[in-house]
Amino acid sequence: MKEAAEPITELKLEGITKRFPGILACNNVALEVRRGEVLALVGENGAGKSTLMNILAGLYQPDSGTISLNGRPVHFRDPNDAYARGIGMVHQNFMLVANMTVTENVALGLKQLHKFMRLDLGEVKRRILEVSARHELPVNPDAYIWQLSVGEQQRVELVKTLCFGANLLILDEPTSALTPQETDDLIDRLKRMAAELSIIFISHKLNEVKALSDRVAILRHGAVVFNGFTVNHSTGDLATLMTGREVVLPHNEGMGGGGETILSARNLKVRGDRGHLALDGLELELHAGEILGLAGVSGNGQRELAEALTGLRPVASGQVQFLGKDMTNRTPAAMIAAGLGYIPEDRHHEGIVPKFTVKENLVLKDFHTRRFSRWCLLKLKEIARNADFLKDRYDIRCASTSAAGGSLSGGNIQKVILARELAREPKALVAVYPTRGVDMGAQEFIHSQLLARRRAGGGILLISEELEEIMNLSDRIAVIYKGRILKILPSLEATRERLGLLMAGVADE
Ligand SMILES: Nc1ncnc2c1ncn2[C@@H]1O[C@H](COP(=O)(O)OP(=O)(O)OP(=O)(O)O)[C@@H](O)[C@H]1O
Ligand SMILES: [Mg+2]
Repeated sequence: MKEAAEPITELKLEGITKRFPGILACNNVALEVRRGEVLALVGENGAGKSTLMNILAGLYQPDSGTISLNGRPVHFRDPNDAYARGIGMVHQNFMLVANMTVTENVALGLKQLHKFMRLDLGEVKRRILEVSARHELPVNPDAYIWQLSVGEQQRVELVKTLCFGANLLILDEPTSALTPQETDDLIDRLKRMAAELSIIFISHKLNEVKALSDRVAILRHGAVVFNGFTVNHSTGDLATLMTGREVVLPHNEGMGGGGETILSARNLKVRGDRGHLALDGLELELHAGEILGLAGVSGNGQRELAEALTGLRPVASGQVQFLGKDMTNRTPAAMIAAGLGYIPEDRHHEGIVPKFTVKENLVLKDFHTRRFSRWCLLKLKEIARNADFLKDRYDIRCASTSAAGGSLSGGNIQKVILARELAREPKALVAVYPTRGVDMGAQEFIHSQLLARRRAGGGILLISEELEEIMNLSDRIAVIYKGRILKILPSLEATRERLGLLMAGVADE
């Protein structure tokens, strides 16, 4: 197998500029990374982080500017060129083939990299095991991707990239889909790996940036507005530098939850993708005017609960009641029509239709209503007006509402979904990880919008792994463990420690 590229002692970007129609995504960016260094790249949603890194990884061509390695200018025509020089990237959205094994996925990538190489799967497997042992990244080379948790897939992506011989690793929001435990694990591993590699790390979580990086570069509107040593700055400083103002996450001040029950699950049994009982007799009641936080380590039935409530997954037994009616196993359309909102976990596949424009995505659930159509014809002007209004109100950053939804940055896609769901003024809203991958400012905004919905009498089931988010926003907190609610407590009685124990399945009094 081909040997790794020459070690990167210094990487330099100079004057990198990249335009997309109507948007200057990177504006004359200069950046440097040295061997053994971890550079954190932070900035608001849409600031240009992914675009810049995609240029460095050979996926996009810059309009102007140069990249040099160890003092010599280089030009990457495609990702293979970048890999050949030791630059590998793990993307914001994983790029693994679900119905192939880990070994086959790595082999597929290697085949693209070295077109004429004879591929020996046994050899690839040995390489995987070697890399996985060396960097303490345990993976099972024979497992199918679909069998793996998100955290495990993340590890496979890392191992794959390392197998290709990367010695500069670019990680685009590697922790945004991981549980807190998996995140701590990954940060530890990356710290150890940094002894031999250089790493560029993108994250919206400033505590991770503090824990891992040596230096921080902040992008705003495509330009580097700050570049300095991490130790010299607090997370508060960095947040302010990033957004240009102080960010204060709002709290749920009142003690709600007194309203009538609007959405409930009774003795709910639901099967997961692998046929096991993911929900095993779950009981839950959501009241009008409250935010009910659902805390738990992911994989304990959260996804299945959200899908069963929204009509996306069959209920094996038990009941879903919405606004006093039995709505068990009704279609998603029936749930939507009855006034249920949903912010799904997987925004790319379930939240939006990437090929539809932003304005179309904003009326996905309502295009057939009288407001947006008449005699089977869409009222295009009204759809455009609606989009302009929501773009403004929810601060959705896109060149135009006629841009494809899929071309927006991750956090802005999230805002499109939020805008669409909240604009419908749902009686109940099931919000799954609503701030995953969004910047601090947008997080503040989303939180305040959820609180506003609560004040207006809506009930919100907030499924999240961020304890701070759950504790800040909820009236009551339910802890889910192995498909059941282990405990429900008033938010005022919740502490990090107590929730942590409950999430681990240790019931208290
Ligand atoms: N392929 C594309 N076509 C058109 N516009 C694009 C494309 N990729 C990115 N953009 C635009 O370029 C800008 C920068 O996007 P980018 O994805 O780099 O942001 P980001 O900093 O990674 O944001 P996030 O934190 O949300 O991931 C955004 O306005 C986005 O809409
Ligand atoms: Mg990005």
